[in-house]
Formats: sequence, C-alpha cells, structure tokens
Amino acid sequence: MQKANHKPIPKNHKEHWLLGGAYYLIKDPVNYLFVNMAKNDGIFRITSPVIKTVVIYNPEHIKYVLQDNNKNYTKSRAYKVLAGLLGQGLLTSEGDFWRKQRRMAQPAFHKERLNAMLETMVTCTQETIADLNTVKPAETTNIANHMMALTLNIVAKAMFGSEIPDNIVETVGRELNIANELALERVSSPVKLPLWVPTHKNTEQLRACGALYKVIDDIIEKRHKTSGHYDDLLQMLMEAKDEDTGEQMTDKQLRDECLTIFLAGHETTALALSWLWKLLSDNPDKKATLAAEVEQVLGNRTPTLEDLRQLTYTRMCIDEAMRLYPPAWAIGRRAIEADVIGGHFIAPNTNVILPVYCIHRSPELWDKPNDFIPERFDKERIKGADKFAYFPFGGGPRLCIGNNFALMEMQIIVAMLVQHFNFNLREGQTIETDILLTLRPKDGNMPMLVERKG
Ligand code: HEM
Repeated sequence: MQKANHKPIPKNHKEHWLLGGAYYLIKDPVNYLFVNMAKNDGIFRITSPVIKTVVIYNPEHIKYVLQDNNKNYTKSRAYKVLAGLLGQGLLTSEGDFWRKQRRMAQPAFHKERLNAMLETMVTCTQETIADLNTVKPAETTNIANHMMALTLNIVAKAMFGSEIPDNIVETVGRELNIANELALERVSSPVKLPLWVPTHKNTEQLRACGALYKVIDDIIEKRHKTSGHYDDLLQMLMEAKDEDTGEQMTDKQLRDECLTIFLAGHETTALALSWLWKLLSDNPDKKATLAAEVEQVLGNRTPTLEDLRQLTYTRMCIDEAMRLYPPAWAIGRRAIEADVIGGHFIAPNTNVILPVYCIHRSPELWDKPNDFIPERFDKERIKGADKFAYFPFGGGPRLCIGNNFALMEMQIIVAMLVQHFNFNLREGQTIETDILLTLRPKDGNMPMLVERKG
C-alpha cells in the first residue's frame, strides 16, 4: 500500500516541545480531543516520540475499525497491561483463542439465561435499599460506593450462585480493586518495570492477584467435586463445549473468564448508575417524569420482566446517561497492517483512538449535545440514527458480551431505588470527572443526600 497516494492526516494543533501531542492527551484528554476535533474533519494524528497515534471520530470510520475491517485492528497496549491481571479472558485475548472463548461463553448471556437472574438482581437491590435506609437525612453518602458494592454483589451472585458467602464477595471486591488500581497506574505510567521486579507496588499487585486467583480457584475446585444442580454463569462456562472440537475450558481459562466478567461487569455498570443519579439531581423535571413512570408501572411492587418492557422512560434515562458519561470513555485499537481510512494512510502499528465520550457529545451529531434529554432515545425518534454515533458498549464482534445483562440490571436498580429514595447533590455541589480507562467521578466520590419517600 503506497502512502504517497493518500491525503495527509492533519496534525493536532497543540504540541509539547518534547512529547508532542501525547503530552496533552495524558494531561487533559477531553479538552485536547475536543479542540482538535473542532479543527479537523473526522481524523487527526497525535505526534509522539514513541508511538504513531490517530484519533478517529467519524461514525462511518468507527464502524470500519470496529466492524468492517476489525480483523486488522487488535486491542491497544492498555489491554495488554490489563492482561497482567485478567490473563487471557474475553476482554484481553485475541484471534482464534478469543473467537473460541466467545463462542463458548455467548450462550451464558442469552436472553432466557438473563431472565433467570432477575430475582438475584432484585434481592441484591433490596439489600442496598436496607443500607441506604440507615443514612441520616442531613448527611451525605457516597452513592458511587453503594453502586459499586451493589453491582459487584449482583455479578458475584450471577456468577457463583446466590449461596456464595458475603465475605467472599467482599474479598474479591477488595483485592480486585487493589489489583485494578495498580494495573491502571501501570497503563498510564511511561516506565513499566516487569511485575517480577520487587518494587512495593509490584509486590502488592502480585499479592492481590494471588489472593483473587485463590478464591476463584477454590470455588472452581469445589464445584468440580460436587454433583448438585447449579444455575449460574460458572456452571454454564464449565459445561460449555467448543462446537468443532468438543473441548471444554481448562480451570485456568475458567478463572480468567470469571475474573474478567467480575471486573468488566461491575465497575462500568456502577459508574453508569452513579452518573445517572447526578444527572437526575441536576434535572428535577426529568427525575419527576421518571418517578411518575415508576409509580404508574410498579406502584409498590418489585419489577417483573414484563414491567421492564413497560419502563421505557427509565430505559431512556439510562441510555442518555451513558451518552453523556460513557463508562468506557474511549476504545483503543492498534493497526496490524497498513490500511486506508477515509482516504488517509494508516501505517502498521498505529494506535487508533475512538473517543466515545467526545463522539457522544459532538455538536455535529447531537442536538444540544451537553444537555440531559432522555426523550432523544425515544424509539421513534432514534430510528435511523447512525449506529456508531452512540456506542457505549463498543461494536462489531467485540461488542460487550454483558450489554443486555447491564441494561436489565440498571433498569431494575433505577426503578427500585426511585420507588424508595430521592437522591440529591447538595446545593452548588459539582462533580468533576477522573478520566482513566473508565470515566469516574473525581476520587470515586459522589456525595448525595438520601431523602426517603412515603
Ligand atoms: C454499563 C455497563 C457496561 C459498559 C458501559 C460496558 C462497556 C464495554 C465495552 C465498551 C466493551 C468493548 C471494549 C472494546 O471493544 O475494546 C466491553 C466488553 C466487554 N464487556 Fe462490557 N460493559 C458493561 C457491562 C458489562 C457486564 C455487566 C459484563 C458481564 C457481566 C461485561 C463484560 C464484558 C466482557 C467480557 C467484554 C469483552 C467482550 C469480548 O471482547 O468478547 N460488561 N464492555
């Protein structure tokens, strides 16, 4: 493929004397991306002394990278660091191995399987309601922590069955958090010493990973030895067979998939919910419309599957919250071979950034892009909209396997919490974002007042 025949990719306008644009991408990614998106047309490159990077924000080109020519785009280097924690799970593996694992895991996420998890989701939410009932009226509580504990509890029980002891859920949550934070530090650090170098952080990461592996290995080993009937994700994964070879997952593969589902499946969902509570607090009229729908569909009952189909405004609020605050704020890929995108030459090994957050707020694609307007996700209004202008769950073959799980879970949680509480930020309180691999409230903190209803 000849480079000379193609249009040059415009450079970003801001340059650090030594580190090029990469400096600004790390220091202030969102502003940096917005400024350059406004000055360019669908694509620009970031200069850096170490790696070639392009940013792509035309939905057609996004579709090309994630779907049409996905075979040429492998996961970016950030995922390799995560693989140090998650091993070869679905999120981090590649190629034929990933394809085989995805085929085997997919049935565990089919609609009928998810429907069976409704009870677990309802029961876990009731536990959170009991916790929130203990918060004193004049005090704030960190709603982001409650959401994190709740979604971890749900994914743990969906994975290992509801009889799993609470202390195991807590251990997994604590160690996963430590290992994840240290892995994230490694992602953003320019110097990555191998994990075997005995620095304090490396030792701590290895200890946390070891503790996690032991908890999960013990559960898997115990499951092998018992003959009872289990109706959970672990059992589905244990029984899954490759359709060509009849092979089943090894215990190591099972562990990697369990850990991946734990990590991928709880923080993202908790963040989407936390941002939704903030948006509802900022938009009392939308909150009132949501509460009216919940009152009309559910009254005081807990939700059933049929109710979820009726809770359409609830679903629109969730969709709109993930537009404004997509938990996976950017998706990264690396070109394997040379390619051409929109007439521009992409060299092999180029890092390709798809900035979900900025695309979701692009004035070219969205009317009043920074406003919380759930109505824009009304089925009739959204019909025919560009599929890759909104992609909180990614797209193409690597689309989030847990998207329907997360949507169902969020609808249940939102409806049940709205039945019981009114969450509000204190007057004048603002929440800044922390942009790491995921889009978090600053310091993980979302302090809210909890007003009980009725
Ligand atoms: C609001 C909640 C969630 C969001 C925003 C989200 C977002 C994403 C995104 C953007 C990807 C694609 C990453 C890429 O292409 O590089 C992904 C992949 C994945 N997600 Fe989710 N996710 C959510 C919930 C869940 C849940 C609940 C589970 C499991 C129970 C889950 C499990 C996974 C797995 C295993 C993958 C890798 C799939 C593959 O490559 O085959 N996620 N998620």
